[in-house]
Amino acid sequence: MVELLPSILSADFARLADEIAAAERGGGTAIHVDVMDGHFVPNITLGPPIVASIRKHTKLPLDCHLMIENPDESIPAFADAGASWVSVHYEACRHLHRTLDLIAQHQMQPAVVINPATEVDLLVPILGMVHHVLVMSVDPGFGGQHFIPYSLNKLRRLTELRRELGLSYRIEIDGGVAHDTVGSIVEAGAELLVAGSAVFGQGHPERDARSLLDAAQRAAQVAVA
Ligand code: DX5
Ligand code: ZN
Repeated sequence: MVELLPSILSADFARLADEIAAAERGGGTAIHVDVMDGHFVPNITLGPPIVASIRKHTKLPLDCHLMIENPDESIPAFADAGASWVSVHYEACRHLHRTLDLIAQHQMQPAVVINPATEVDLLVPILGMVHHVLVMSVDPGFGGQHFIPYSLNKLRRLTELRRELGLSYRIEIDGGVAHDTVGSIVEAGAELLVAGSAVFGQGHPERDARSLLDAAQRAAQVAVA
């Protein structure tokens, strides 16, 4: 089951509720929220107060992608703000098992993210703890970058490991998801497709979400045929 997660990083923040509503009408089934602290990544975006505001304007799950150092310190605040899924970077967590446990203890779905240079197999010990694995297909920090092709091998490996280990985590991809890449991304096994500039970049989020999701669903049908 392929789903589209519009990433508000490329939305007009002054009109956020309208932008989210449009992306939802276009078929988005969760909202991807990029949290950046200017340390783990060289950019600063938003935090729990904005998540709490968004929470009042949509019923969709809020998929909070934490690109921050010391995520443990912020997890209670994201829970209070109404975050649904919380993903933390393998590279930012000294005690990843503890951090994933902490997210679950706060009644949110825990997930792990890996940067392009991080190997999937490092995650094997904790794969049973996560709702999804997020593969970064660009170096995190900015929207509108080019998809890194070797990410497809990571999607295939995660699909294989899920079968081998008898697990049920979902496989998410983030970075450079667009019309020219979405077919191979879906064929390689991604189910949760994050897209920022491809949805919001042209100022027509409903139309552009719909056409990207249509392309993804066509690729999914070919993949099972
Ligand atoms: C980048 C963020 C992404 C970003 C993707 O660090 O994690 O979610 O919005 O942007 P696009 O879809 O434009 O590559
Ligand atoms: Zn993201």
